[in-house]
Order: sequence, then C-alpha cells, then structure tokens
Amino acid sequence: MPKYRNSLNVLNKDKDPQISRRRFLALAGWGAVACVGGALGAAMLGYLYPNALKIPPSLFSLGRPVDVLASEGRVFLPKQKVFVEVARGRVRCMTAICTHLGCTVNAVETGYKCPCHGSTYDLDGDNTGGPAPSPLLYYRIYKGASGELLVDKSRRIDTPSEGWFTPTV
Ligand code: FES
Repeated sequence: MPKYRNSLNVLNKDKDPQISRRRFLALAGWGAVACVGGALGAAMLGYLYPNALKIPPSLFSLGRPVDVLASEGRVFLPKQKVFVEVARGRVRCMTAICTHLGCTVNAVETGYKCPCHGSTYDLDGDNTGGPAPSPLLYYRIYKGASGELLVDKSRRIDTPSEGWFTPTV
C-alpha cells in the first residue's frame, strides 16, 4: 500500500493546518450574508422608527421667547452657522454662509466679512463688496407648539425687513 494517497504526496496528518479553500469560501459567504442582513436590519429599524419623534434637520430651536428676547444684539450659533439678532422685542436669523463659495462669514462692526475672498456685507446682510453675488439669506422663525421659537432653514426670506419675527411672550 502506497504511503501517500493524494496528488500532493503528503499524508493527511502532514497537511498544512491553514484553512481550506472550501472552508474559506463558506466563511466568506456567511460573512457577506451577515453584512447584507445587518444593513437591511438597520434600514428596517430606521423605517419603523416613528418620524414624528424626529426633528427635521432643517429645524432648530432658539429657546423660549422670554429667554431669547432677554438679551439684545447678535449672536453667532456655530453649529447652525447662523447669526441670531434680537432688537426691540423682535428676532431674526440670518445664514452665516457666504454666497460666494460657502465660507463662514465673521461679524464685524460694519456688518459681515468673509475671511476667504474678502466679500463684505452690511448689517442687513446685503452684499457690499468682493465676489459675493447676492445678499445673505434669512430664515423663517415661528413659535412652535412647545412655545419655543423655531428656525426653519428650509424656508428662506430674501428681504431683511421680512426676516424679523415678533414673538408673543
Ligand atoms: S467664499 Fe466668501 S468671499 Fe469667497
């Protein structure tokens, strides 16, 4: 009886302990099934989660009117990239995104200035110099059901005077 019974002329007990191709392909197949299953499961969970509980990303709260109106002046909200301005019991919210190429403008004494290419805007956000092609936009503000002031970034207001909102306290 020959010592070796396979084409590689090795004893079974001498075989390389590495994983066989068949086993590797089976594991890879199961891995792919697990990945697809996980992705589908995550998508289904997101679908089943009630949308009513999610706050749309275009909406954010400024807080209660009494708190918002307590301090006059303009404040930069870095997370939202907006300036919120309070004056004489009114509030308005303007984007801080430069209309040239999207840099964040800085508040200066005369209005706003873009650090990227030098565009300037006046205190109402009208473009006054540099390559900016149009004024800074305002967003609609309203009082939500919770009583807080909400900014809707999906509703844009072109005219600075229409950007003011007078909340009831
Ligand atoms: S991005 Fe503001 S001036 Fe160019």
